Amino acid sequence: LHKAIRRQRQMCIRDSLWWYNSKGLKVKRGVCRLEKFVIHGGRPLRGEVSISGAKNAVVAILPATILADDVCRIENIPNISDVTYMVRILKQIGARVRVINKHTLEIDTTTVNSFTVPDELTKHMRASYYLIGALLGRDNQARVSMPGGCDLGIRPMDQHIKGFEFLGADVSIENAMVNAHAEKLIGSSVYMDVVSVGATVNIMLAAVKARGLTVIENAAKEPHIVDLANFLNSMGADVRGAGTDVIKIHGVEKLHGCTYSIIPDQIEAGTYMVAAGATKGDVLIKNVIPKHLESISAKLEECGLEVTEYDDSIRVRYVGKLSKCNIKTLPHPGFPTDMQPQMSVLLSIAEGTSIVSENVSDNRYRYVAQLTRMGANVQVDGKVAVIEGVPELTGAPVKADDLRAGAAMLIAGLTAQGTTEIENIQHIDRGYEEVVEKFSVLGADIVRRNYPDAAIEKAV
Ligand code: EPZ
Repeated sequence: LHKAIRRQRQMCIRDSLWWYNSKGLKVKRGVCRLEKFVIHGGRPLRGEVSISGAKNAVVAILPATILADDVCRIENIPNISDVTYMVRILKQIGARVRVINKHTLEIDTTTVNSFTVPDELTKHMRASYYLIGALLGRDNQARVSMPGGCDLGIRPMDQHIKGFEFLGADVSIENAMVNAHAEKLIGSSVYMDVVSVGATVNIMLAAVKARGLTVIENAAKEPHIVDLANFLNSMGADVRGAGTDVIKIHGVEKLHGCTYSIIPDQIEAGTYMVAAGATKGDVLIKNVIPKHLESISAKLEECGLEVTEYDDSIRVRYVGKLSKCNIKTLPHPGFPTDMQPQMSVLLSIAEGTSIVSENVSDNRYRYVAQLTRMGANVQVDGKVAVIEGVPELTGAPVKADDLRAGAAMLIAGLTAQGTTEIENIQHIDRGYEEVVEKFSVLGADIVRRNYPDAAIEKAV
């Protein structure tokens, strides 16, 4: 076991030497590596796939560990680069992180000694801004550089700042650093002007040790909000109502460490469900919570697929035809915006005309330009995309513009006739664990190809 852990640790250290520069190239000591996914499509996916822990839950729960001066053991962690980035941030502020195995970390926050998180650590993902709420909740102060993450249009933080200020903090933004400070945090009622996952998370993190009662009204209800609340309560917090639009938090003096297992990833599961249908296959998606997938299952059935729910798995089977259907993205329990690009790929080869309305993100159709290169017929006008189904897609060189756009390109490549090469795959590695291995087991012809350094010089 020690040898295995040592090897695992060496792998982690080796991987930590790899980084992505602005061109999406893996950089190690000046040597750039370009990676692409190469897919020979047109093969129906068949078999079983197991879903990993939820990215959007773990990136909220890892920062939440600093609310206690203790040790937390977190299990069912997905092996994705957003976790790598978040672990780097925790180490930056002084926490000790022990790798127990590929999916389990022990985080010792008794050594946290800083409340500053610089740009080079925050720029890789949106969730780095959860350190503001967590540091504020821990020590009443935070200096965190503005976050990075998927380019989905304007992604303001006004609701986060509103929540912190209602709790008694002074918040300012200078030189792209968010500075938040409070003499003491006092519970308050905060009405969210828009349903915001991030702002709901951040206010929860800041409020669990505030004095008195905090009420978040018009709160986000996503499964990862409930998972965070369950984790905080495992640490001794008093959070009630998560999963409804009113969350009540009674502040407590102190939190303690705990052991906690992350819920399965709703969006990873949905991605494999759509891939099964789009490739006209038959796949059992295991280790899921079917209730989290209800809106996706309903839409896949509307498209003519057979969807069968079991206790902790769901089967998607092609039974002869893909039909059009209309999609309106909404906060949970509506159809998730994070599934919109993937679903649009399936609709691009369904019979008839489908209407997609993106009501959550400002700009989530960047993948359409790439899909059009593969023969899709999609007209975008503001929040609405009109998709005329075509008989099939054809392989082409394409790019992943962001995490879920990348997932959409994977599905498109798997369904298309011919070869598809996907660039900028670092976006996909942020949220999908072992995506090549998982699709290969289902019969896909997909490889992760590194390009020789010489070629990379040209790429750079
Ligand atoms: C979270 O982003 C997710 N990221 C996103 O998933 C997801 O698309 C999004 O929620 C919606 O479900 C993580 O959980 C790490 P929001 P977040 O705040 O928190 C507006 C993925 O693919 N808004 O719920 O940034 C905002 O402009 C990623 O896994 C404000 O106006 O999303 C947007 O239109 C991509 N003011 C809407 O609310 C604010 O202060 C929803 O945003 C905050 C948000």
